[in-house]
Amino acid sequence: MDMPDSARTRVAALALAARGRAIAPLFEAEPDRLDRFTLDAAGLHIDFARQAIASGELDALLGLARAARIEACRDAMLRGDRVNPTEDRPALHTALRRDPAEPLVVDGVDLMPGVARELARMERFCEAVRDGRWRGATHRPIADVVAIGIGGSSLGPLLACEALRARAHRRLRIHFLSNVDPGAWAALHPQLDQASTLVVIASKSWRTLETARNAEAARDWLLARSIDLAGLARHLVGITANPAGAHAFGLSDEAIFGFEDWVGGRFSLWSAIGLPAMLSVGAQNFRELLAGARAMDRHFAEAPLARNAPVLLALVSWWNRLVLDGGTEAVIPYCDALRRLPAWLQQLQMESNGKSVDLDGRPLSGPSIPVVWGEPGTDAQHSFFQALHQGRSVHPVEFVLTVPEAPDPQGRDLALLANALAQAEALMHGRSLQESLDELQAQGLDAAQAQRLAPHRVHPGSRPSTTVLLDRLDPARLGALLALYEHRTAVMGWLHRLNSFDQWGVELGKQMAVQAEALLRGTDGAAAAGRDPSSTALLQRVRALLAGRG
Ligand code: F6P
Repeated sequence: MDMPDSARTRVAALALAARGRAIAPLFEAEPDRLDRFTLDAAGLHIDFARQAIASGELDALLGLARAARIEACRDAMLRGDRVNPTEDRPALHTALRRDPAEPLVVDGVDLMPGVARELARMERFCEAVRDGRWRGATHRPIADVVAIGIGGSSLGPLLACEALRARAHRRLRIHFLSNVDPGAWAALHPQLDQASTLVVIASKSWRTLETARNAEAARDWLLARSIDLAGLARHLVGITANPAGAHAFGLSDEAIFGFEDWVGGRFSLWSAIGLPAMLSVGAQNFRELLAGARAMDRHFAEAPLARNAPVLLALVSWWNRLVLDGGTEAVIPYCDALRRLPAWLQQLQMESNGKSVDLDGRPLSGPSIPVVWGEPGTDAQHSFFQALHQGRSVHPVEFVLTVPEAPDPQGRDLALLANALAQAEALMHGRSLQESLDELQAQGLDAAQAQRLAPHRVHPGSRPSTTVLLDRLDPARLGALLALYEHRTAVMGWLHRLNSFDQWGVELGKQMAVQAEALLRGTDGAAAAGRDPSSTALLQRVRALLAGRG
């Protein structure tokens, strides 16, 4: 059933009227604004009071969420209904971080014993590698781990390893290899010694071309130096939901860490896919990561809509797409360790919700999902923040702040946080022409000079932002943050009534790449048929360049 149009129409009409509205006066008009527009959930403090949403408009947005039956959709996902109909599966990443003592019965089977078993296997393996009991074929302890995988089989563990680097094992260096560009592997392997390297191949499907080619390259590299097929077992493990594929590659059952197909790739950090992160930070920290995500799951499941962080942030996003003309959202972590958060979030939101049809295959109505982008602050301030402050399109910003664990002798921790707080304030308040004039005259410029320069210094202001504050970046808070975004993504999908859990949009390009490669190799002349003139000309040009190589 479609969302009743009345709720949508009401929000759309309100949003139209709200265009160009000043944000700062909302604080005067609504004395309880801070109470309604801030909340604490699973160790995160979330402030969306600087969004261009008045209290009455928030009520209308909550009406939209009720009309979209968000609570029913949420409950269906959490209990394991087949909420991914095009692949006929549940989306049960939450089961991976559920309290193992709480059964979760789906189709008559309790999933929790299987989840607990695989987690325990991962822990045994990781602790053996970490404490040096697991050794290479020549009895050297492992010093380098090469984690091969792409998309969801890389971005989550990569983000977790970087975010928790303060807790990383001292001996183990974790490297990620995702791109099929041979240059990526060529830049990495000279730093490694086969005798002390463990290669971890992660692929849910075990069919991804980039991962398969990189895995072959790594295996050949291992075999090239005195490691025979038997010794390979000490240097090569796989993570997959397709064990048959991993067997065909030569891995034994003991070398395969598994998970089920009801875990979506971009939601899979919590599964065996998280193994590189567990190798880095250890089993206890990984369990705390799961516990933090579990706390956010509980909040999502239990908090009323008006105090439910993922629901509120999804509604903010919906509103901004209606009110603003930009169509994008920036996420700026003021925390170097979270520098890969934007990349992880891009896959999560855009692979999940970058769709044009609803669950019934009908064209979507309502705003499209925003493009997500970002870079860490303060670096970002010196690249694109100019456009955020003074550009013509407005792009809402999500600031993610963490308090560094120890005071810094040079005060860089304070500078970092001060910059984040100041940017959000500056975006909202802006600077008027008169303020610019006054400032220039106060600096000693005469009236004519001030008149000439002042327009360039005007900041329109009323640029919306949300701030997510972590009182520290520990495994539990990281888990809660990522689960917050996972649930916001699902809610955004339900508001559109689309399937957030499939990704057919990446298939066509993959198929065409197979044909294009056949053409480049000259093995399939038929692949040229039906291509447009531009594609054909470029393929021929690239082929000629390849043929001309030494
Ligand atoms: O890019 C498409 C995709 O299917 C993602 O959803 C997934 O995370 C990635 O490829 C990797 O897939 P796999 O883990 O099966 O190798």
